[in-house]
Amino acid sequence: MSKANQIQAPKGVSEYVPPQSRKFESVRQALLEPAKNAGYELIELPVFEDTDLFTRGVGESTDVVSKEMYTFEDRGGRSITLRPEGTAGVMRAVIEHGLDRGQLPVKLYYSGAFFRAERPQAGRYRQFYQVGIEAIGIQDAALDAEVIAIADAGFRSIGLKKYRLEITSLGDAISRAKHRIDLVKFIEKLNLDDATRTRAAINPLRLFDDKREEIKKQMADAPLLLDFLSEQSLKDFEDVQRHLSEMKVDFIINPRMVRGLDYYTGTTFEFVHELLGAQSGIGGGGRYDGLMAELGGQELSGIGFGLGIDRCVLAADAEGISFDQEFTSDLFIIPLGDESKSTALKTAQELRNAGFRVEISFGDRALKGSMKAADKSGAAYVLVLGESEISSGTVELKQMSTGETSSVTLTSLQNHLRNVSGK
Ligand code: HAM
Repeated sequence: MSKANQIQAPKGVSEYVPPQSRKFESVRQALLEPAKNAGYELIELPVFEDTDLFTRGVGESTDVVSKEMYTFEDRGGRSITLRPEGTAGVMRAVIEHGLDRGQLPVKLYYSGAFFRAERPQAGRYRQFYQVGIEAIGIQDAALDAEVIAIADAGFRSIGLKKYRLEITSLGDAISRAKHRIDLVKFIEKLNLDDATRTRAAINPLRLFDDKREEIKKQMADAPLLLDFLSEQSLKDFEDVQRHLSEMKVDFIINPRMVRGLDYYTGTTFEFVHELLGAQSGIGGGGRYDGLMAELGGQELSGIGFGLGIDRCVLAADAEGISFDQEFTSDLFIIPLGDESKSTALKTAQELRNAGFRVEISFGDRALKGSMKAADKSGAAYVLVLGESEISSGTVELKQMSTGETSSVTLTSLQNHLRNVSGK
């Protein structure tokens, strides 16, 4: 087939094929582990939802809803959107399945693909991957701190070091209403185009997030929400900071932070990696007081985060972290001849059942070719199974890193591997 005939992946999607997929798998596992250890349970949801869920849930002033959604009409004439984020869908499912009628907080984790029709660049994709958690139904600064600490533990277990945590508070409704009056007055005096004014009319906080220099300059003296926090909001924010310090999670306060989604209230946060350039946000989240009611549920608050797996893979690369060790086999078996294949399969089966990672050389390759394959696989040990080995019941086990060999009986192979690998 000529190259012109080949079909390529759509523009701007992230894909992971071996060996890069090893990093993806390790990073996803590392990010999920702390959530599981804190008692969060899996929620697996559709990647497409009713479009209204996102226009109502995420907010029409956001880039995500106004410019970036993959929206289409399905065959039944319904407006469907590929999920651009996870929180709205989780909330929809919690309401639909009545999870909020049980034990609170409802604690859920998820991981999967999300879709935003953004301009592709390094670290910004149209299909990307997140690990997320949501804790719904309890308003408690200690829970906010725990959620943030879970994200931090995920990054640390990948081995990342060069990132910082930024936090702020968007306060309660009273704080935001007071701030909004002053902010709107301030914005009225600015020199803005019509589109920007329309955005600001829906959510004036958006202007803090505007990347254009002329807007940044004009917003330099804008009133900050942190200066308008009600007594309760201020206490909550201080409690979150105290708990984070107690847990030894470092943070800085960024009073100008604006998250890209409109549902946030109270504690909000972002993790920024220092080696990633423009797309440096490796994760973010916060509290959302009104989302559940907005979607037709009870008045319950929630808090959660989304962590970008793709960007964490890039960050791990930038910090020189390698995951190869987790993916190499303990043993590579090379059977010589048909008889040996049965013994190889049986031996591999027993060792795998005992928790070892074992590969077999397939096809009737010459020994040299099989040894090359064993070497490439990165396996720690290799053994050749021929007629003489099977009849004597003893094999030569070769350690690939040193080239040393030792005679081991097939019956003691498992014990031997256990001793040398420490498994
Ligand atoms: P978000 O900040 O929009 O939050 O996304 C979370 C993370 O997903 C980002 O920090 C980034 O690492 C990654 N990400 C976002 N867009 C892209 C993209 N186009 N390409 C690659 N990575 C990307 C949320 O989605 C919220 N649902 C988080 C949340 C959960 N808040 C409360 N609960």
